[in-house]
Amino acid sequence: MRKKLLLGNWKMNKTISETKEFLKDIDELVTLAKEKDIDIGIAPTYLCLETIKNNVPSSVIVASQNCHYLDSGAYTGEVSVLMLKELGIDWSIIGHSERRTYDNETSQKCNLKIKKLLENNCTPVYCVGETLEQFENNRTCDVVKEQIVEGLKDIKLEDLSKIVIAYEPVWSIGTGKNASKEIAENVCAFIRSLLVDLYNKEEAEKVRILYGGSVKPNNIKEYMQEKDIDGALVGGASLKVDSYKELIHNI
Ligand code: PGA
Repeated sequence: MRKKLLLGNWKMNKTISETKEFLKDIDELVTLAKEKDIDIGIAPTYLCLETIKNNVPSSVIVASQNCHYLDSGAYTGEVSVLMLKELGIDWSIIGHSERRTYDNETSQKCNLKIKKLLENNCTPVYCVGETLEQFENNRTCDVVKEQIVEGLKDIKLEDLSKIVIAYEPVWSIGTGKNASKEIAENVCAFIRSLLVDLYNKEEAEKVRILYGGSVKPNNIKEYMQEKDIDGALVGGASLKVDSYKELIHNI
């Protein structure tokens, strides 16, 4: 049985003081998550990681939104997994579509980052998804397949279940146009079938696959009832405590 996961992706939002404001209500969120028996987490900017880590119980997942695939070196503006680990951060989002679009993040680069995270006993949340044009040209499966095959290249069987995958159609992110539950389930099931082909059924069944893209308190429930959707990666609706609370409540 895969435990449901709600991960808030704060993107480039919230200063440290705004983050502290949000954290005033963290106990309520944690209690609700326990009642619902789900995992919850937040991925803030690098600057706010320490503030969050130091002010939440260990049951709350704190994730970075990116990391580098090397330990150190002349890479201006980058942060390594070792640096994150020193803060106790052992989850990282990889390959978010905004990074693929604006920062030339390729599946090959994601693969290096995923390997570095696994080497350090950290959990990658690997994002995949097609653009509107690809969706309209019925290329979703081809695109997602390439992202999965390249992103997970040479990842060992025993490491597969340590990875979380997030299916986020680019056309649904921040647009208010969430994918229907049927589309989301079909692609998440397709991803799982790829994992069966690349690895085996037993390990593929252990992998948590999230849906992301305009998930709101009023639509989260429909996704959670689908067989292959194990949680949600939520941007905008995770920024306000009340909305975050409602998301947990409606799972
Ligand atoms: P959104 O973002 O919920 O604001 O659409 C989701 C994401 O980018 O992870």
